[in-house]
Amino acid sequence: MSHNAIYPGSFDPITYGHIDLIERASKLFEHIIVTVAENGRKKCLFSAAERLDMITTVTQRFANVSVMAFDGLLVDFAKSQQCEVIIRGIRTISDFDFEFQMAGMNRHLTPEIETLFMITNNRYHALSSSLLKEIAARGKTLEQFVPPEIERALFNKLTAGA
Ligand code: PNS
Repeated sequence: MSHNAIYPGSFDPITYGHIDLIERASKLFEHIIVTVAENGRKKCLFSAAERLDMITTVTQRFANVSVMAFDGLLVDFAKSQQCEVIIRGIRTISDFDFEFQMAGMNRHLTPEIETLFMITNNRYHALSSSLLKEIAARGKTLEQFVPPEIERALFNKLTAGA
């Protein structure tokens, strides 16, 4: 039986969709490690250190959630942290294809680690970090989608890069 789960992602930046999932998962497991891919497939706007800081700030109220960065293969990191469950959120059917492949490959690599899919809260089905960055770049408010600290960080980052 597993008491620890890992919730990996790019989190560039973390949104209310991720936070909602973390809250729900924190009720199912003794401990959740939210883990930021340092060198994921995506080119990120925020550095891994910035993403870690942001996640730490907005998950402070969850006593059984910790935040860590990882490099290399996810399954190796999960094993090193005694996590037997990987949690991934699914928003739409189009998410499923990639998630199915990733879960299958992770199972080949480490059969004892299970991937658990959680359906995103209906309120956040259309939400993605990539869309948020496009909206933020055009100066629109993001208050429905991210906590105020993250909205500020996004505007600051996009203005600094302009
Ligand atoms: O939020 P994302 O970008 O969809 O998260 C993808 C992530 C970071 C979970 C995935 O790219 C990953 O696990 N990367 C680490 C390298 C790895 O283990 N690759 C093999 C996956 S089968």
